[in-house]
Amino acid sequence: MTEEQPRAFPGGFLWGSATAAYQIEGAASEDGRTPSIWDTFCRTPGKVHEGHTGDVACDHYHRWQEDLDLMAGLGLGAYRFSVSWSRVQPTGRGPAVQRGLDFYRSLADGLLERGITPSLTLYHWDLPQELEDAGGWPVRETAERFAEYAVMVGEALGDRVPLWTTLNEPFCSAFLGYGSGVHAPGRTEPESVLKAAHHLNLAHGLAVQALRSVLPGDRQIGITFNPGVVRPSTESEADRDAARRIDALQTRIFSDPVLHGAYPADLRADTAGVSDWSFVREGDEAVIHQPLDFLGLNYYNPLLASAATPGDSSLRNDGHGSSDHSPWVGSESVEFHALPGERTDMGWPIDPTGLTDLLVRFSREVPGLPLYVTENGAAFDDKPDASGSVHDPERIAYLRGHLGAVLDARAQGADVRGYYVWSLLDNFEWAYGYSKRFGVVHVDFETLRRTPKASALWYAELVRTGELPGLD
Ligand code: FCB
Repeated sequence: MTEEQPRAFPGGFLWGSATAAYQIEGAASEDGRTPSIWDTFCRTPGKVHEGHTGDVACDHYHRWQEDLDLMAGLGLGAYRFSVSWSRVQPTGRGPAVQRGLDFYRSLADGLLERGITPSLTLYHWDLPQELEDAGGWPVRETAERFAEYAVMVGEALGDRVPLWTTLNEPFCSAFLGYGSGVHAPGRTEPESVLKAAHHLNLAHGLAVQALRSVLPGDRQIGITFNPGVVRPSTESEADRDAARRIDALQTRIFSDPVLHGAYPADLRADTAGVSDWSFVREGDEAVIHQPLDFLGLNYYNPLLASAATPGDSSLRNDGHGSSDHSPWVGSESVEFHALPGERTDMGWPIDPTGLTDLLVRFSREVPGLPLYVTENGAAFDDKPDASGSVHDPERIAYLRGHLGAVLDARAQGADVRGYYVWSLLDNFEWAYGYSKRFGVVHVDFETLRRTPKASALWYAELVRTGELPGLD
């Protein structure tokens, strides 16, 4: 495709921005909210950059109207946000708290008033701490609790939210939360990773069933994955096998049961030394395999994997943070290699072709299922200049490249219906605290002042025209 000419997105393409509750809301102990695993993790010494917490974050809980006005000013058509479970159902059990639900009802109303479609995610990693104390995702009961919570939110918001997502990136919840321990709750237990993955899948299936019973019939339900785009470092059989193993762990452990109703045989074989998988009960895979209305895909960068080379102390640069514990249960010997070229402030390589590959892969795997890019974006160390403006040409280049990749995927037949930039605001970037800025809107964490960056204005122009500008 020539890069010089502008390229058009189809009419009706959904242009959005995405955030997550713990990353922006703050108000951590207001209106009845109880701690989630992230509140606890932030208070565990050494886990989060400089001991940062989400206590205040972007103070979105109090400034949401200003944030909605910002989106309206950019002309956005959709907003992907998540609900804080322990804000609407403190401790993860028992009745809903009205004030918690009211917050999200007001938010959805405010979006609709501004002509922005609410796109709600039930779970973006903030498990109520009490449920973790009772065993967390490695125990089956957590999936059952999640379905109850889904009903509460569905009943309260079903009349005003058209797009529903059960889970965001279950890979991170299971593998980083219970394997490498770089995310909350910070456990490093290989078998718990597989149990957590299964119970997240089950939670998804049970929640879809529950939502179908309480939502109006025209509501759309999906899930968001962050599949690994794993490339073998050579075409050798051993390296291709290494890539296959990582694909099974990052992607197919979720997508196969959710989209096709069965765990992959190669995954079970690769992890046979870790678990006998007896936690999968008869009928579970059928429950997990619910009809969906869309699939959300998050993409940041590809991975380059190889079989272990004896004596080579090569990088374990899988982009998922550093830990003495590998998240890759049963395939710990796989090595990851740095890709050449430019990187973001996360150290993640910039390679839009991975997004095309990902979208085309799933469009072929599940023909007819609409796809959304539910997250894509980049962190750069943005600072306001003397006049207060924030120039972020690297982010514009990143977005431009990846939106071109979306068009390339569409040209190959992928039914991509929309794109949400990660993120609306600079926010609490998990273990990196406030040190990484992903927003198209700059947030001064001293004053909480919001300033749209040049990328926000660039994005607004794209939304207005529906045309991806060519290179100058
Ligand atoms: C994704 C998360 C999101 C954000 C981006 C950078 O894995 O879903 O919350 O942290 O990465």
